[in-house]
Amino acid sequence: MTNIAVIGTGAIGATIGAWLIADPALNVTLCARTSFERLRVQTPDGTLESCPRLLTDPDDAAPVDWAIVTTKTYDTPGAARWLDRLVRDGTRVAILQNGVEHLARFPQLAPDSIVPVVVDIPAERHTPGDVVQRRTGSMTVPTGQTGEAFAALFGASPLELRLSEDWRTAAWQKLAINCAGVVSALTLKPAGIAHDPDIAELMRGLVRECVAVGRAEGAALADDVEERVVEGYRTSPADSINSIHADRLAGRETEVDARNGVIVRLGARHGIDAPLNRMATALIRAS
Ligand SMILES: NC(=O)c1ccc[n+]([C@@H]2O[C@H](COP(=O)([O-])OP(=O)(O)OC[C@H]3O[C@@H](n4cnc5c(N)ncnc54)[C@H](OP(=O)(O)O)[C@@H]3O)[C@@H](O)[C@H]2O)c1
Repeated sequence: MTNIAVIGTGAIGATIGAWLIADPALNVTLCARTSFERLRVQTPDGTLESCPRLLTDPDDAAPVDWAIVTTKTYDTPGAARWLDRLVRDGTRVAILQNGVEHLARFPQLAPDSIVPVVVDIPAERHTPGDVVQRRTGSMTVPTGQTGEAFAALFGASPLELRLSEDWRTAAWQKLAINCAGVVSALTLKPAGIAHDPDIAELMRGLVRECVAVGRAEGAALADDVEERVVEGYRTSPADSINSIHADRLAGRETEVDARNGVIVRLGARHGIDAPLNRMATALIRAS
């Protein structure tokens, strides 16, 4: 029996947790901040319901084979308190968060025990334990033993697990999409705002900076990324709200550092200025 702890029970933690719980070969514990009794996830393949094993105090946690981190990037210190109890020699840790700094966020862990995961599973939480998974979606992990072992955990689920020889590029491609989404968080207007030519130009500028820094970091980003990002926002439902926009609407902290600030910080290492991402980061922080 493989013992798995899922840290965080929001949109992504509840969704992947529900799929793992549905596999009787896996022994799953949810590590939550907010308790609930029933887990109910509406998926494109039907509703998954269970009464999960759930802990709310890291002191009650014991070492596991796999720890899966699904908190927002700004809640990494809270996730680290769980990892202190869950990780022993041989534990592997998967980081399901946005951004490109999955390993850097967890310096206390051995890098070869970590699987960084690019998550493309649109999901939203209505109340604790009640989540909607909008599309089957996929997760992208690096090729190699640990990435393959992580993918195997989801063998009984319909989730698509992609093994990438060039995970870094996959992560920067996602960052290119995410960094442009800050315009919605700033204007509090959903994706349809990309039809405004001035806003589209601003999005291209944000992405251009991301591409320059990503290439300096070794990502193989194509020349048409900025156009594809704008087109992606224009062809998504005009009323769709990205997560940084949703966080602002809810008065929560945001992942702006992981989505925009990172472009400024990593750019500085390479002598690349990123003034649009710097301004967006400062405005979100000040708002
Ligand atoms: N949702 C999506 O569609 C989506 C898609 C792709 C990537 N992502 C990325 O995936 C990551 C997770 O996003 P999400 O949408 O699942 O966020 P979310 O719905 O806000 O869930 C985060 C969860 O972490 C929990 N948490 C925070 N601190 C904790 C602690 N100390 N101990 C235990 N749990 C703790 C929160 O607890 P509470 O229940 O108390 O709030 C919440 O359940 C983010 O980096 C996001 O950008 C999300």
